[in-house]
Amino acid sequence: MTNLELIDVVIDKREVHSDDIVILDLVSKDGKPLPPFEAGAHVDVHITGGIIRQYSLAGDPAENSRYRLGILNDPNSRGGSAAVFEMFLPGKTITISSPKNLFPLQQSATKSILIAGGIGITPILSMAYALKAAGKPFEVHYCLRNESAGGFKQELRENFGENVHFHFNNESGLTSMKPQDVLQPVDANTHMYVCGPTGFLDWVLTQAAEVGYQSHQRHYEFFSAEVDTQGDAFEVHCAKSQIDIKVLEGESIATALKKAGIKVSMSCEEGVCGTCITDVLDGTPDHRDHFLTDEEKEDNDQIAVCCSRSLTPSITLDI
Ligand code: FES
Repeated sequence: MTNLELIDVVIDKREVHSDDIVILDLVSKDGKPLPPFEAGAHVDVHITGGIIRQYSLAGDPAENSRYRLGILNDPNSRGGSAAVFEMFLPGKTITISSPKNLFPLQQSATKSILIAGGIGITPILSMAYALKAAGKPFEVHYCLRNESAGGFKQELRENFGENVHFHFNNESGLTSMKPQDVLQPVDANTHMYVCGPTGFLDWVLTQAAEVGYQSHQRHYEFFSAEVDTQGDAFEVHCAKSQIDIKVLEGESIATALKKAGIKVSMSCEEGVCGTCITDVLDGTPDHRDHFLTDEEKEDNDQIAVCCSRSLTPSITLDI
């Protein structure tokens, strides 16, 4: 499980873009520099009542006096973004983790194609700053519902000019971006990065593979994912606690552990962040997360207990 340093920061500035995106500038309480971060990094934000969510750092990685977050007021919010909109006002002190990067830029790339769907622009923006500072060729493709949707548009235009391309949905609600055009030409040193909703991300990655991007050239980050905990009941043997529990049909392992009084650190609860990753000692996981790599999943020695299940009638966890 991950252990990141916790930092208290103050909301120095708050802007709302397009009615549903709040942009927060966070500074340290004592005016000292904040821990450095790489493009693509995120922080855990402690919101309220034990709710912790991951948000990408959208600012310039060269700027060490403030972090910038862009948060969508998601109508399907489970309490996280709605609470941010209501309670995260200028002057408020909040707790965040130190930055962690699960979506890094490949330094060897000679060209980078950055694609964002909606609020997926946040890590893409920090990547654009880093690539511009390094003098490396890049393009940003920003897909939005319509011309009045989205955040950071002025900042993108002012800082990255012709490197930025906006794509708006057509009358059928589909993006006007043609991945096969924006992703070509591809060679061994071109890398593509995409962040956005699950369906968008799957679609772009499929197109990228079709036009010739190898798996090591395709980089992605989900900002939210659907959790599928459907499936038959199974047993979990908790080796350290010496407790056997039953995970009911459609229930998550984390929920069953909680009912048995076994505490598990969790954050996203969507199989995205890796906070709940637990070692597997016996049995075969049914991996449903987006955090472990394909190779790690094949090893079958770790499991995201917030969403994954068991393929065997029982599974033994190091917990
Ligand atoms: Fe984030 Fe399980 S809590 S992957």
